[in-house]
This record gives sequence, C-alpha cells and structure tokens, in this order.
Amino acid sequence: MHVLGIDIGGSGIKGAIVDAETGEMITERFRLETPEGAKPADVAEVVGEVVRHFEWKGPVGCTFPAIIRNGVAHSAANVDDSWIGTDAKALFEETTGCPVTVINDADAAGIAEMVFGAGRDQNGVIIMLTLGTGIGTAVFVDGHLLPNTELGHIEMNGGDAEQQAAESARQREDLGWKKWGKRLNQYFQKLEFLLSPDLFIVGGGISKKSEKFFKHIQTRAPLAVAQMRNEAGIIGGAMAAHAIFQNGDDGEFDHRVILGEQANG
Ligand code: BGC
Repeated sequence: MHVLGIDIGGSGIKGAIVDAETGEMITERFRLETPEGAKPADVAEVVGEVVRHFEWKGPVGCTFPAIIRNGVAHSAANVDDSWIGTDAKALFEETTGCPVTVINDADAAGIAEMVFGAGRDQNGVIIMLTLGTGIGTAVFVDGHLLPNTELGHIEMNGGDAEQQAAESARQREDLGWKKWGKRLNQYFQKLEFLLSPDLFIVGGGISKKSEKFFKHIQTRAPLAVAQMRNEAGIIGGAMAAHAIFQNGDDGEFDHRVILGEQANG
C-alpha cells in the first residue's frame, strides 16, 4: 500500500509517498517550513499544501511532536499550547480531504527503525531517541511499542532534561561537543538506570555526526545510529497509517499489527 507520510517537526514539515510494506520512499522528500508559532490552523494549512504538492488522494500518516491518543494531542512542549485537546486527525482530514492517522513523532521513527533499521530483528528493551528541537523517545519490549513515552522530560539537575540535552540546547548555548556530550551522558545514564535497555538507537538530524558525541556517552547498553536518519518519521508515519487503514480500524493504531506483520515476513 502506498501512503503519504508527513513528519511534522519544530522547524520543518516533510512529506514523501512511501511504500508502507517495504519502507521505501517512492518519491523525493518535499519540505516546507513549520509556520511561526506552530498554531493548529497554520500547521494544518501546510499539511494541506504538502498533500496538494503530491496531488495525493489516498491515506496519510502524520507524525506530531506531542502525546497523541486517538488522534487528539495531549501535550504541547514545542508547539502552540492550543494544540492540547485539539483533534489533530479531524483537523488534518478536514484540510486535506484524505483519511489521516496521527501518531507521536518519536514513536513513528522508532517503528520504522525497529522494522527496517537499526532495531531490525532485535528483541529485549530498546529505546529509540530523537535529538532535535526536543528529545523524543520510543520504548520497545520484544518489538512491542509502549506508546507516548515522554522521557525527554524526565528531571535532570532540577529541570527538564530536554531543555539541557536536546540538539536545540547545544545550538542555543553554543556548546562544544564535549560539553554537550557530557550532558547527554548524564541523560543516557539516567535512562539506563530507570529502564535497563539492551540497546539505544539515536536519531534526529544530528545523528549523522555521531562520531563527535557518542564517545562521551558511557552506557552499558550499546548505542546505534538510526539508519533512516531524518526519514524515519515519514516512513513510520506511513507505516502506522497502513496498519490502521488496512485493518479498517479508525481508532488508535495497534503497533503490534505493524511489527508482528513485518517481523513475521
Ligand atoms: C515532545 C515529544 C516529542 C519530542 C520530539 C518533546 O518535546 O514532548 O512528544 O516526541 O519532543 O519531537
């Protein structure tokens, strides 16, 4: 099944048509800027533009950087507060005229990495992290996702970990790799203490510079670079939509469908 995957991030809204069964993007990626303030109506307008760019009329899988339950946003860390309580699925369906699925951005990236990337065929506890404007997390146990974990917001030094250790903190405070790496080390060690993972998968645009900061992170669990880099969100969003629409289910997506199906070939 072909699905238009759309990854909504703090700085850009990116889309591509994806073959959801193979995880391959079958078009070039198309990117527009996230509108200033990221208010619901403005973001929906850009999502509509992406759909029009591809002249798309089929299913759409959207990722969003917040807690998403049954299509509704329940948090708003790096987007406008008015997202809280907004039915993102209904809003995007209205502006695009297409059936839409919405899931958390890190969960989508994690699903793509677990099925087609660095977590492929791996069991145990796996934590996927996306380092960008915020810190997104997706936690898997034997291929099953625990959805909507918000481990970017755990407490660190009396504050929000994301504020200190996200890629945006490195840029905002103009931190060197070593200084940022030390903060990441503290953060990863906290996660390791809390969840005892077998593997960390690190994604987000900055993961292509992993040689600059992985050496500062000392965890028992190995670190792997996300193989799909910044495309994991688009692909995972499409996979989630595929799982829902294929099963004729209009509710919250069941990740077991995706992972079970793909993992069993
Ligand atoms: C949000 C998460 C999101 C992450 C990455 C955090 O600030 O709370 O929901 O997954 O940023 O975008």
